[in-house]
Amino acid sequence: MIFWKELDQPYFALAPMEDVTDTVFREVVLSTFHESPLKILFTEFTNVDGLCHPVGREKVSHRLMVNASERKLLQEKGVKLVAQIWGNNPEKFYQATKMLTEEYQFDGIDINMGCPVKKVVKSKCCSALIQYPELAKEIVKATQEATHLPVSVKTRIGFNHIQTEEWISHLLEVNPAAITIHGRIQKQLSDGEANWEEIAKAVQLNSGIPIIGNGDVISVADGMQKVNETGVNGLMVGRGIFNNPWMFAENQDIDTTQRLQLIRKHIQLFESTWRKTKNPNILKRFFKIYINGFTGASTLRNSLMTASGYEDFYSTLDDFSIRNK
Ligand SMILES: Cc1cc2nc3c(=O)[nH]c(=O)nc-3n(C[C@H](O)[C@H](O)[C@H](O)COP(=O)(O)O)c2cc1C
Repeated sequence: MIFWKELDQPYFALAPMEDVTDTVFREVVLSTFHESPLKILFTEFTNVDGLCHPVGREKVSHRLMVNASERKLLQEKGVKLVAQIWGNNPEKFYQATKMLTEEYQFDGIDINMGCPVKKVVKSKCCSALIQYPELAKEIVKATQEATHLPVSVKTRIGFNHIQTEEWISHLLEVNPAAITIHGRIQKQLSDGEANWEEIAKAVQLNSGIPIIGNGDVISVADGMQKVNETGVNGLMVGRGIFNNPWMFAENQDIDTTQRLQLIRKHIQLFESTWRKTKNPNILKRFFKIYINGFTGASTLRNSLMTASGYEDFYSTLDDFSIRNK
């Protein structure tokens, strides 16, 4: 099933974000709603060379982890989970995709042709593939050959200059299941405003392949306005979720108790999932997204930022709750 075409449109996707959209954060976001326009989640990007190597695979496999509790919510809420992969060797894409199809339960495979980071660009991966359209197409074809799952691409509007129509037309030749377009060129990284006029140009190519717009979407209403302006089939939200983790919830009126409950849930899930493998300090980047907009928020945030380890996090939250009863 090519869910990209069959889901009710327009739909929302939560962007793949390294060190953010692991199974824990995805479950936290899923737990904020019953019914929502959010229909697609992505893993963090995972390197195909790593996946094809026995030692490398062990190192990268945490990126593909899906807790049973997340799996249950995905099923209950009808949300799809897509594994995102990156590299530059079509044979490795083939092998990695075969393995992902046979040994995991993802709903789709997405190829990263958008990451602008120097190190990956230097090794001719991700956004660098915009400069090598023939190789990019070979990669899509090798990935498609390895799986019955829909193979999509996430990319940008150009490398060092805007080249939306030319680049997207190349990709369309190999019939990806969907294309997500981040409305910036590689050179911009995440700076400046996303260019939705360019995203609209990709829609106007009228290929019948879903185009998902990405860049600076800050709310569902903002996304819907962008749908009306550009005709995209779906929206992808990245950093917007940091401003409001309840972005996809039915009820946007979130009180202090709910904020404290969600942060506690995040910490507990993180601890039970990653206790032995990840540093609890990683959680600190999330604290500010839950702890704001209520009396005492900045003091609590500061206390959590200087706390060390799970027990300290829990006791800081307990102290705050007792003092503010
Ligand atoms: C912390 C962080 C990690 C990211 N990791 C990935 C990634 O693994 N794969 C990917 O395709 N894009 C990644 N991105 C880019 C986002 O998916 C998205 O394209 C970008 O942030 C623009 O959308 P936004 O303006 O809604 O944030 C990352 C972005 C951020 C902020």
